[in-house]
Amino acid sequence: MTRDPRAASTSLRDFLGIEGLAPGELEALLDRAEALLPAAMGQVRSEPKLAGRVVANIFFEDSTRTRVSFEIAAKRLGAEVVNLGASGSSASKGETLVDTARNIEAMGVDAIVVRTSISGGAALVAQHVDRPVINAGDGRHEHPTQALLDALALRLRLGNLAGKRIAIVGDIANSRVARSAAHAFVRLGAEVIAVGPPSLVPVGFDAIAAGPGKVSITHDLDGILCDIDAIMTLRIQLERAAGGGIAPDYRAGYGLTSERRAKLKPGTPILHPGPVNRGVEIDDAVADDVADSVILKQVSCGVAARMAVLLRAIAD
Ligand code: CP
Repeated sequence: MTRDPRAASTSLRDFLGIEGLAPGELEALLDRAEALLPAAMGQVRSEPKLAGRVVANIFFEDSTRTRVSFEIAAKRLGAEVVNLGASGSSASKGETLVDTARNIEAMGVDAIVVRTSISGGAALVAQHVDRPVINAGDGRHEHPTQALLDALALRLRLGNLAGKRIAIVGDIANSRVARSAAHAFVRLGAEVIAVGPPSLVPVGFDAIAAGPGKVSITHDLDGILCDIDAIMTLRIQLERAAGGGIAPDYRAGYGLTSERRAKLKPGTPILHPGPVNRGVEIDDAVADDVADSVILKQVSCGVAARMAVLLRAIAD
């Protein structure tokens, strides 16, 4: 059985991308995630709204933050969780992602969380299964729960994002995080400044997102540092770069060094989706800055964001 992927992307069940969300849904998810933060952190007991449900995590790319936080989110809500990776599953024998998902569905799970190197892979799975599908990162396409947690971490720090200028720095070309974040921040009224060397910022990236905000492009990081409200640095995605490595002068041009951090307005929050390549896109002292680095706060927000998405998928 197949389903219309556009319908799937805008249904209340699947969560395939920020781009396909209906108006108001992003704000509703953020409000819900914010309310769930104490429960996500174990400070209050969650209502077990997913008791008796089973969530399947199919992760065909490696993950620390996303996989574990989906598992914690599901368990906080009372669900059981099964985890499947490419290694140790029959994917290693050539079974496709869709066949894997259909077999897991046939075992009666209630939702399927998918991470894959295939851009559009989560929507592909959603076309072939009847259970809600949640995109946990698909190739270069989207990482929508990451955008939720990024927006939540920023909202907690800055309040309303409308009118804020948020720099996303680095390997925009290969980054599903950058794409989802751009969609989310522009919907929330922010200006996203995509920053990186010309080889890593795709022509046309300034036209990808629609909303009250906008996207602009610059290749001059030093030229914008004193006039932004937040900065997110990105890892160079070597696993997606076609034969490339990290340019020897990358840090000199685009690394968030202590010298560059000193040029930011006081209190400018510093984000990174992780995993961090220390000394490349961000220096130790900046990543670990207790005042302005929100990198670990992003991770905490991830549990709450994924609780909100699981409730939307299964409980609403
Ligand atoms: N940010 C993120 O997706 O991290 P993981 O790859 O560890 O899940």
